[in-house]
Amino acid sequence: MAHLKKVQISKRSWEEIQPDLLGLGIFEDSKLSNFQKEVDKKCGGCISDRISTNDFVGKKGKTVVLYTTGPARRILLVGMGKREKFDLEILRQTAGTAVNIAQKNKLDSLVMEIPGKEVIGEIRLASQEFVEGLILGSYKFLDYKSDTKDETVLKSVTIINGASRSGVGRGCAIADAVCFTRNLGFHPSNVITPSRLATEARKIARESGMKCTVWGRDQFTKKGMGAFASVAKGTSEPPKFILMEYQGGKKGKAPFAFVGKGITFDSGGISIKPSKSMDEMKFDMSGAGTVMGIMKAIGQLKPNLNIVAAIAATENMPGGRATKPGDIVKAYNGKSIEILNTDAEGRLVLADALAYMSKNYKPRYIVDFATLTGAVVISLGHRASGIMGTDEKLIDALKKAGEITGERVWELPLWDDYCEDVKSKIADVKNIGAERQAGTIAGGAFLKEFVDDIPWAHVDIAGTAWWNKDLPYIPAGPSGVGVRLSLELLNILK
Ligand code: BES
Ligand code: MG
Ligand code: ZN
Repeated sequence: MAHLKKVQISKRSWEEIQPDLLGLGIFEDSKLSNFQKEVDKKCGGCISDRISTNDFVGKKGKTVVLYTTGPARRILLVGMGKREKFDLEILRQTAGTAVNIAQKNKLDSLVMEIPGKEVIGEIRLASQEFVEGLILGSYKFLDYKSDTKDETVLKSVTIINGASRSGVGRGCAIADAVCFTRNLGFHPSNVITPSRLATEARKIARESGMKCTVWGRDQFTKKGMGAFASVAKGTSEPPKFILMEYQGGKKGKAPFAFVGKGITFDSGGISIKPSKSMDEMKFDMSGAGTVMGIMKAIGQLKPNLNIVAAIAATENMPGGRATKPGDIVKAYNGKSIEILNTDAEGRLVLADALAYMSKNYKPRYIVDFATLTGAVVISLGHRASGIMGTDEKLIDALKKAGEITGERVWELPLWDDYCEDVKSKIADVKNIGAERQAGTIAGGAFLKEFVDDIPWAHVDIAGTAWWNKDLPYIPAGPSGVGVRLSLELLNILK
């Protein structure tokens, strides 16, 4: 993986620094700030020229690179749209766009002030989000390319004219964790196996003094995780149940819990998927990736909270010993499950992980992340994650965190009538809902059976965890969604 590693705050002026590339965010009203006016003046009026000729009017996302004979060799103008509409999302996008242009021009450094900081007001948050936009926008996955000499990744960005040191530090830690999550999504299933996820979890734990426990097939089966075990039956790749515990709050204080779906490859099992695009199902561990990214960031930020995480990791494969449609298994909380479709495996592995967390930690809140249903991609596309849950305060906080981070969520109802759809005729529940109806809700309704009375929310990231479209700070591929959302959530609920 490659991404920008060095973001520094400088007290020096742009003239002293003499940047190769100076980035400026320009509003659509074309009113320059005092700083921008000064740059314009010292660079021969090249900015106001562009504006007065209507060549560049500050439309959102539009860019132009100007060559000057002034103290900055090149000036990059990035349009930020209407001043009244400016928010943290446009701030992050402006940062990402500036980095993209710098990298396309094969430059390895960029100097910028935080664009629109006078509009945002909160300098700490603006600094954090700006840095996240910079680092996330610079991300490239180059691990399997032998020849990367034509690939430029920015070496440094210098922030001038004021920034918050703690905001920048927080932004670096979080963006680094998101890049880690993206990597896990990009790597193929022969590399990111359940064992590899366990190794990465142990590494995060070791680096930051957390506890990490890993159970193999025999251990979690013996503990009663019959639903998880049933999914793992078809694969000879060893499955792992991974637990991470961070103690930043008082001993014994109820923790926040995160749970991730860690299907390192989803072939569908005996209810096998069509071969077209099956390769994409390497990303079916994205929920686990998100949870690991959250814990990686937690290890750096060290909040005064107790946080626990569980990941149920396995391949979902057909095989001589694989679970067959119609099989009935027993989950950790004692409920019997009729498995009518082995491709609805995510909810099976989550059932045991959720039940385990509810019973053994009695968390304040549980949030799970999973690429659970194709149906959520139909209803929300790639723009928002589907959420459901049992606690209004938690759902509201998730919505608020979504607005702040740009990782938007949309709530779907978990009404009792929907919950009826997952009742089985011969077992307690079945792992599919009503045929071709409300598939995402059926997933949530099933999971609800395994969380006891703990306030819980389920985030279906099947649409948001991956998109084959380049966005300003989310290049095509895995997005790392959920990490920034969760850290903001903790901030709101702490
Ligand atoms: N991992 C898939 C969900 C998925 C599908 C994510 C497409 C991204 C794109 C999940 O395990 C699955 O196969 N779900 C089934 C459930 C169905 C059998 C009830 C689905 O969505 O088709
Ligand atoms: Mg499946
Ligand atoms: Zn799946």
